[in-house]
Amino acid sequence: MLEISVSKSFDGLKVIENIEFKTYPGEFVCVVGESGCGKTTLLRIIAGLESFEGRITYRGKILDRRSIGFVFQDDRLLPWRTAIGNVLFGIEIRKKVSEEDFKLAKEILRSVGLQGFENYYPKELSGGMRQRLGIARAIAIQPEILLMDEPFASLDELSRAKMQEELVEIWEKEKKTVIFVTHSIEEAVFLASRVIVLTPRPSKVAGEVEIELERPRDRTSPDFNLYKKRVLELLRLR
Ligand SMILES: Nc1ncnc2c1ncn2[C@@H]1O[C@H](COP(=O)(O)OP(=O)(O)OP(=O)(O)O)[C@@H](O)[C@H]1O
Ligand SMILES: [Mg+2]
Repeated sequence: MLEISVSKSFDGLKVIENIEFKTYPGEFVCVVGESGCGKTTLLRIIAGLESFEGRITYRGKILDRRSIGFVFQDDRLLPWRTAIGNVLFGIEIRKKVSEEDFKLAKEILRSVGLQGFENYYPKELSGGMRQRLGIARAIAIQPEILLMDEPFASLDELSRAKMQEELVEIWEKEKKTVIFVTHSIEEAVFLASRVIVLTPRPSKVAGEVEIELERPRDRTSPDFNLYKKRVLELLRLR
């Protein structure tokens, strides 16, 4: 279990009042909240990229940053490295790459639908493929917790829906804890086991909605829309 209780100010500007929540092993948590409420800051804090007040523990101990994978909103791929080179990068900065790692990288590329593109450079891939490569790179270090910051925000509606479906498939296979930040309520209800709604800055948790819909989820069903309404109500956007 990951337990988070954090506050954060930037030069006198209180951004996070006290965000407090827990995630259970293998849970898919979506975090929603208005622009500027501190979602990216929250992920950066969890990833160890930002100082903070409070406490983050994983299984009762201080969280080891090496067990975290981060998928950024902009893909942040290395343009001079091929797809497989990008996937291996996270491993290379930790240790010497073995034949096993190489096989694993190929396997992960296959699981995100990039088989045959191992030797392509990022500029030779589409936007959606680059996003999938970003996910492959984050998974390659075999993190226990995967942080995702609006990874699909720049995609068109069709690719986005497809990527959401693929991500659910990857998550069902890998069984990682995922913390996924998004602006899109539909995306949150489609993906999440639980949606955490933040208040405007200085943010805290406004409420949570457990999404008890079977997968694969039907975006057009009345139940789906009921859940959307509950999230909207917590955001006070009825
Ligand atoms: N390095 C920084 N220095 C100063 N202020 C910062 C810094 N990073 C973020 N902030 C401030 O913290 C607040 C929250 O920023 P953050 O990027 O976490 O918001 P967000 O919820 O991710 O917004 P969006 O949905 O637009 O991505 C903003 O007011 C921003 O100006
Ligand atoms: Mg952000």
